[in-house]
Amino acid sequence: MMMPENGHRAHGFSSAIFLDSDEILKELDLKGSEVFMDAGCGDGHNAIKVIEDYGHRGTVYAVDIYDASIEDMEKYKTENGVENLINIEADITEGIPGVEDSSVDVVLLVNVFHGFKASRKLDEGVEELKRIVSADGKIAVMDYKAWDVPKGPPTQVRSSPEELEKLFNAHGLKKIYLNEEIGEDIPQGKSHYLIMFQKE
Ligand SMILES: C[S@@+](CC[C@H](N)C(=O)[O-])C[C@H]1O[C@@H](n2cnc3c(N)ncnc32)[C@H](O)[C@@H]1O
Repeated sequence: MMMPENGHRAHGFSSAIFLDSDEILKELDLKGSEVFMDAGCGDGHNAIKVIEDYGHRGTVYAVDIYDASIEDMEKYKTENGVENLINIEADITEGIPGVEDSSVDVVLLVNVFHGFKASRKLDEGVEELKRIVSADGKIAVMDYKAWDVPKGPPTQVRSSPEELEKLFNAHGLKKIYLNEEIGEDIPQGKSHYLIMFQKE
């Protein structure tokens, strides 16, 4: 168990210390009224930033498979009286209970998608993201480039943007955006890419 900066528990590394949340969230061009989901929220710093710094008025979902992360988010919600935050403990690849079909406008996964590959549940994960995203909504996946570098997950669980595009296309989702110059500066270049998909 890792102890991220905000004291919330996370099952894995919180990206708060090495990725710039604002750089990521600005890519989403949030207007404030969307239904937003931080999928695989970990310590929830992105969901919290959207609520606190971006003044988001629409529903914000924080979803994670790790019960302690969701417990901490529930504590945060209660202590701060955040009415538009809904925290859900769920394995995304098995379905997110309580989230209606086509009801989420923006789904963000930061350093989560490679976990679907590690558990060999890529198709299940994409199918659930497709189920919940609204007709004009977007799924934003930010993950490590498929490079063989020491920092980050093992090379074999990383995917290139081209591999993701092929996978999402097979589920009826089209690429609408790709930024390959994002993330941390490492000797090889920028560590991450951010790719967005929408229903066809
Ligand atoms: C590396 S952490 C990243 C957390 C956060 N997104 C961030 O950027 O700091 C990955 C998170 O995804 C969660 N996760 C991994 N697989 C998941 C799944 N199938 N369903 C829900 N959450 C998952 C883990 O529990 C963990 O909190």
